[in-house]
Amino acid sequence: MSVKLFRNCRIYTPIDNGVPAGGKDQGSTTHFSHGALLVENGLIKKIGEENNLLANIETKAIDQVIDCQSKCMVPGFVDPHTHLCFAERRESEFEMRIDGTPYLEILQQGGGILSSVKAVKAATEDKLYENCLRHALTALSFGTTTLEIKSGYGLDTENELKMLRAIDRVSRTTPQDIVATFLGAHAIPPHYKENPDAFIHLIINEMLPAVHKQNIAGHCDIFCEEGVFTIEQGRQLLQAAKALGMGIKIHADEVHDLGGAALAAELGAISADHLLAANDENIVKMARAGVVANLLPATAYSLRKPYARARQMIESSLPVALATDCNPGSSYTESMPFVIGLAILKMSMSPAEALTAATLNSAYAIGKAKSTGSLEKGKQADFLLLDGESPAILAYHAGVSPVVDVYKRGEKAS
Ligand code: NIG
Ligand code: FE
Repeated sequence: MSVKLFRNCRIYTPIDNGVPAGGKDQGSTTHFSHGALLVENGLIKKIGEENNLLANIETKAIDQVIDCQSKCMVPGFVDPHTHLCFAERRESEFEMRIDGTPYLEILQQGGGILSSVKAVKAATEDKLYENCLRHALTALSFGTTTLEIKSGYGLDTENELKMLRAIDRVSRTTPQDIVATFLGAHAIPPHYKENPDAFIHLIINEMLPAVHKQNIAGHCDIFCEEGVFTIEQGRQLLQAAKALGMGIKIHADEVHDLGGAALAAELGAISADHLLAANDENIVKMARAGVVANLLPATAYSLRKPYARARQMIESSLPVALATDCNPGSSYTESMPFVIGLAILKMSMSPAEALTAATLNSAYAIGKAKSTGSLEKGKQADFLLLDGESPAILAYHAGVSPVVDVYKRGEKAS
């Protein structure tokens, strides 16, 4: 048994009411100005103002006292959308994009996601594992204590499973909790270009059952976009995944408003992600269906597109989560502080709303809210110490991470 007391900290945390926090709840975090946190065997035993907390515990039972020196304590970040298992960066394509070639045009020319597919097919599982671990540990140093990682650069059974095995190995190596998502429907392989339905058929009848049998991914995702997969193909695949008991997610309305948000609502997806082009009506449908809006402002930043309409979503009581989308193409960053900074300054979210989005709501977006996402009795002691007075420091100290210490299950992890 190990009992630790973290004292002398300014605590900010969302409160978990059993559902993702939407509307006004998204912006109402709890604050303890002279806070303390009692951790027993990696779980939170008590949290509150230090005086009250100390008055109600047996101090003899404490093994270690950690003075947090007035730093700001927040829950560890949960990054609910990443593609950080890849083999090679795509720096020359980035330069093409800077020069004005649109992201989807690079894909149409056989680059983009398809460049990453070539690199992954050529890579060994060990190389994928090493790269993926390196990116996950970078994320950890920026405060990400739980994350989702997608496959999607294999596009055939063998290589999708190779990616998922590499992700699984990373999940057993890093201190972080990792949730894997099967994204076999990430792009159409060149030899299926004339018959994408046959590729969806292959995913449904071969890849998905293989992934399910190996119990190696909890969720299934699809990229619905002009020139990629249609809404009807999304419906077919996600219904098949749902029938197998997998959680479903969708890359929805990233560049064009195809109605991905409405499909997410129709099928009861756990999240719909991107939503840069989602329309008002479908935002309301998502809110009614209890789908989390997973926003990825670093992608809008990198693609130089208008940001998703977070204010509109929060005002429609749609719970908003935040993620990096870390990938070698549309958003190459592991930094949740950067994403939170963009959310505050570019999507007009308040610091409290952004904190809830990057912790509690993002935990809901990957089915992890029972164990993490807020600092409350019974949850894991996954938390960060920030060099600042409040979470606003994440936007204020731009381009620099204020994350000084990262704790996972009560142990210092970075
Ligand atoms: O979420 N849009 C599709 N997938 C990723 C990009 C992946 C890539 O470019 O490698 C995204 O933006
Ligand atoms: Fe993505």
